[in-house]
Amino acid sequence: MKLSEKIRYAGVDDHREKNFENQWPLPKGISYNAYLVIDKKIALIDTADAAFADEFLRNIQAELGDRRIDYLIVNHMEPDHSALLSLISREYPEVTIVTNAKAVPMIEGYHGITDRIRVIREGESLPLGETSLQFFMVPMVHWPETMVTWCPEEKTLFSGDAFGCFGALNGNITDSKSTIFEEYKDEMIRYYANIVGKYGTPVQNALKKLGGLDIHRICSTHGPIWERQIADVVSLYDKMSRYEPLEHGVCIAFGSMYGNTEKAALELAEQLREREIPYTLRNLTAESYSFALRDVFRFDTLVVGSPTYNNEIFPPVRQFLEGIRDRQIKNRRFAAFGSFTWAGGSVKQMTQMAVDAGFEILREGLSFKQGYMPGKCDFDALADLCR
Ligand code: FEO
Repeated sequence: MKLSEKIRYAGVDDHREKNFENQWPLPKGISYNAYLVIDKKIALIDTADAAFADEFLRNIQAELGDRRIDYLIVNHMEPDHSALLSLISREYPEVTIVTNAKAVPMIEGYHGITDRIRVIREGESLPLGETSLQFFMVPMVHWPETMVTWCPEEKTLFSGDAFGCFGALNGNITDSKSTIFEEYKDEMIRYYANIVGKYGTPVQNALKKLGGLDIHRICSTHGPIWERQIADVVSLYDKMSRYEPLEHGVCIAFGSMYGNTEKAALELAEQLREREIPYTLRNLTAESYSFALRDVFRFDTLVVGSPTYNNEIFPPVRQFLEGIRDRQIKNRRFAAFGSFTWAGGSVKQMTQMAVDAGFEILREGLSFKQGYMPGKCDFDALADLCR
């Protein structure tokens, strides 16, 4: 697929993998993007997931015919991009791997490759002919060895995981359709929240470092290539990495053992609906907490429900709250509710986790004993506080 005279898309769509990193659901699939820069010298930028060896090789051969690859640029060593590094080295034995010093031991560790590696430094350029590639380190976006590749003549940034999103391309290789950003936005927030969300400060550092480039095309490793809606994508990543809520609204996330905490969650949802306060209701026992994490990044308010289980927070809810803690999410309003049978504890413990995160506590947690009947919790007052 031709992006310009010199740049080609060689990536693949994955509709088969159920979970990214074997944990994050992929209801809309995912793409593993890779790119060719074809000049006097030819550079391949990143590879793809191991399951796509044949298709990936065919994509490359369709663009190159008998021409050989001179350089394989390794921006990031997570195996969704680097798994086919060995394959490329076998098929194109004269290829030189171009990467930074931190990736070198990972290349040996994953692939046993120690030769034909050219180590580049921050800002270094690699001439290809009429075009060139320049490299900038963006550590922890998303691993320590991560870098991005800039082609100044094409004003194109090969950004690695940065600006990526879940969702297969289904032919939407670029954002030529004006609705693409809106179509992918939810999955971009979820991708960021799940994969990169812990690294807000490194993302901010990367945005500052790359801010001076006159970028006309962003080629990420997941999701569409951004040419027309670059400002929307960069602004979204900027806000998320500052932990700024994207909109006003409430994420109600709950777990329930016998339906009582669930009934309470539904009553709160009803109170919010009556007040026309936007909300989502995420059942942490019915779906992965991936979606609730996305909604925490989206909304300014989080209300969490959990029964008390062995004197603790119900495990699926604890996993979600630990996910928030691990990502060091800031700047949210918070309240907790939940049922207990003989001894409470979950509501207090959830509130303490929110205090530790620096969240604004909207009110004392709403804890109720045994069965839930409408009106048992003061959700009227809580819903008013969520305005
Ligand atoms: Fe898409 Fe961090 O790998």
